[in-house]
Amino acid sequence: MRKQIVAGNWKMNKTLTEAQSLTSEIANMVEDEGPADVQVIISPPHPFIYAVQNLIPEIGKILLSAQNCHHEESGAFTGEVSALMLKSLGVQYVILGHSERREQFKETDQELAKKVDMALKNNLKVIFCCGEPLEVRESDQQNKYVTQQLTNSLFHLSKEDFKNIVIAYEPIWAIGTGKTASSDQAQEMHKTIREHIADKFGTSLAEDTSILYGGSCKPDNARELFSQKDVDGGLIGGASLKSRDFMDIIKSFA
Ligand code: G3P
Repeated sequence: MRKQIVAGNWKMNKTLTEAQSLTSEIANMVEDEGPADVQVIISPPHPFIYAVQNLIPEIGKILLSAQNCHHEESGAFTGEVSALMLKSLGVQYVILGHSERREQFKETDQELAKKVDMALKNNLKVIFCCGEPLEVRESDQQNKYVTQQLTNSLFHLSKEDFKNIVIAYEPIWAIGTGKTASSDQAQEMHKTIREHIADKFGTSLAEDTSILYGGSCKPDNARELFSQKDVDGGLIGGASLKSRDFMDIIKSFA
């Protein structure tokens, strides 16, 4: 049975005290209102991970994610963070392949495959982002574009390793724009992704893989998106920075 997941990608936002306050607010809300069958994940900027960890109750309703890791174990990579460091901090997930990093830091499918390997080697689960730019959507090539991203970065994995992968479909033209994909567009792509996974790893593993939607997911559209058969939750940017909005999205499963 695949998990319903709502993950908050805080990106490069907040100060230490703001991160601590947001984490405490979310932890209290999840404790008081959180649906038992939804896994909540928060992904603060790296400098805040250790400081917010002790604000999260042990019971595992909220897990910690990092926003990136390097593809090497350690070494002369000034400014970088390793999967080993993240694991030593008690982080359980790492977001990889986000379009902002593909675009701004020129992360290729091949480099991301190495990052995935390093994360899995250090027992981190991976939220792997994929998604097409507007021009690809406008030329109706999105299915080929996205499935190719998955093939290039994930399809070298064993079935066992792939069990530690969560997919986040984030159409680039919907990220931070307020222009959300329609529920039909989301469902069509999620179904395509699940079928692509099934072709490679079999139907059972494909059915067990959580596929999240990201891209202007808000309290007023989450319920419609999450009601789609192949949408298993969301990877939330802006709305995850406000505890009430993030909690309302968490509560949006039917
Ligand atoms: O990783 C999630 C993010 O890219 C979505 O951002 O602000 O459109 O929810 P936003």
